[in-house]
Amino acid sequence: MTNPKKIVVEGTDIEFSVDEGDTILRAALRNGIGLPYDCNSGGCGSCQFELINGEIEDLWPEAKGIGERARRRGRHLACQSRPDGDCTIKVQIERQYEPIVSPRRQTLRYVSCTQITHNMAEFTFKGDLPADFLVGQYILLDIPTVEGSRAYSMSNLPNEQGEWRFIAKRILGGAATSFLFEHLVSGQKIEIDGSYGMSYLREDSPRDIILIGGGSGISPLMSIMQQASISATASQKKMLLFYGGREPQDLCANKLVSAYPSLAQRVSVVEAISDTDGLNRPEGTELGFIHDVVRQNKKVQINPLNYDYYFCGPPPMISAVNKMLQLDLNVPANQLYYDSFL
Ligand SMILES: Cc1cc2nc3c(=O)[nH]c(=O)nc-3n(C[C@H](O)[C@H](O)[C@H](O)COP(=O)(O)OP(=O)(O)OC[C@H]3O[C@@H](n4cnc5c(N)ncnc54)[C@H](O)[C@@H]3O)c2cc1C
Ligand code: FES
Repeated sequence: MTNPKKIVVEGTDIEFSVDEGDTILRAALRNGIGLPYDCNSGGCGSCQFELINGEIEDLWPEAKGIGERARRRGRHLACQSRPDGDCTIKVQIERQYEPIVSPRRQTLRYVSCTQITHNMAEFTFKGDLPADFLVGQYILLDIPTVEGSRAYSMSNLPNEQGEWRFIAKRILGGAATSFLFEHLVSGQKIEIDGSYGMSYLREDSPRDIILIGGGSGISPLMSIMQQASISATASQKKMLLFYGGREPQDLCANKLVSAYPSLAQRVSVVEAISDTDGLNRPEGTELGFIHDVVRQNKKVQINPLNYDYYFCGPPPMISAVNKMLQLDLNVPANQLYYDSFL
C-alpha cells in the first residue's frame, strides 16, 4: 500500500488525502468536501477541475463529460482522475455537495434477482454493514471483467439489515448488464462504493411530488415513493407517477406500485407507450412520449409550480423532460431533481 496523496484546493484552506485507488471526487466526498458532481460516471461534466500542479492518471480518456478543448486547457474530470502524487487543483467547492451520508466501500453478496419486465429485473445484495443512503441515490459497482465502475440507483429503503436492491435494464451487448443478468451466482461477492447522488428526496419541501421515469429509471423512484409515504414530514404529500415505455411489454409502474399497499393508496400512476400504432394499447394507457404526456396532464397544467419533480431514465428522456419543464412550464431549476442513466 502506497502513501495517500495530498490534494490542495487553490485559493482555499481546503486539503484532503486520496487513498490508493480512489478518484479525486470520491476522496473529496469521503472527506466531507463539497466538490460539485452528478453522475460520478464520466458523462455529465459537472466535476471538472483545473490541474494547477502535479500529475494525474486519467481513468477514462474517452469520457464524454469533457471536450478536447477543455482537456487542452488543463481541465479534467474529478470522477475519472487518480492522483499520481500530491496535486494542487482549482475548483469551486460548494456546501450543497457535502455528503449527508458519507460514502464508503464495502463488499456485498449477491442474493437474488426478480424479473420485472421482459428486459428488467430487481437485484438484491446483502452486506454486513447497515445499508445507509438517501432515497434517490446510487451506488457504484465494481463489476468483474468490466473496466470502470457502473452506477445503479437503489429501489429499496435504507435498512439496518444491509440489504441493497436496484432495478437494472438489460442492454444487449452491454458489458455490465450482461454480467449482472448472465453471470452472477448466488453468494458471489461484489464491491460497491457509495452512496452518491444529488437527486435524493427533499422531505422538507412544502410541494407535492411528480415522478417521471423511463426504463430502469423506475428504480430510485420506487425508493423515493416508499420513503415519502412513511416520512414524518412528507407523508401528506400527493404523489403522481408518470412512466413511459415503447411497447406494452415495457410497462411496470402499475405492477410495482400495487405490490406495496402503502403506495397503491397514495400514488396516482399514469403509464404511456410511445412506439405503437395504438392497436395493442392496454386500457388506461396513454399514447406518446412521456414528457408530452406530463405536459398535457390536467393536474400538472393547473399549476406546474406546485410540484417538485424527480425524474430518471435514458438521456434523451431526461433532456426532453428538462426542456419541457423549464422552457414550456417555467418550472425553476431548483424544483427539478434528476439522474440521466448514461
Ligand atoms: C447516476 C446513474 C444512475 C444509474 N442507475 C441505474 C439503475 O438504477 N439501473 C440501470 O439499469 N442503470 C442505471 N444506470 C446506468 C448504468 O450505470 C449502466 O450504464 C447501464 O446499466 C449500462 O450498462 P451496459 O451493460 O449497457 O453497458 P456497458 O457496456 O457496461 O457501458 C455502459 C456505459 O458505461 C460507460 N463506460 C464505458 N467505459 C467506461 C469506463 N472505462 N469507465 C467508466 N465508464 C465507462 C459508458 O458511459 C457507457 O455508455 C445509472 C447511471 C447513472 C449515471
Ligand atoms: S460527475 Fe464526473 S462527469 Fe459526471
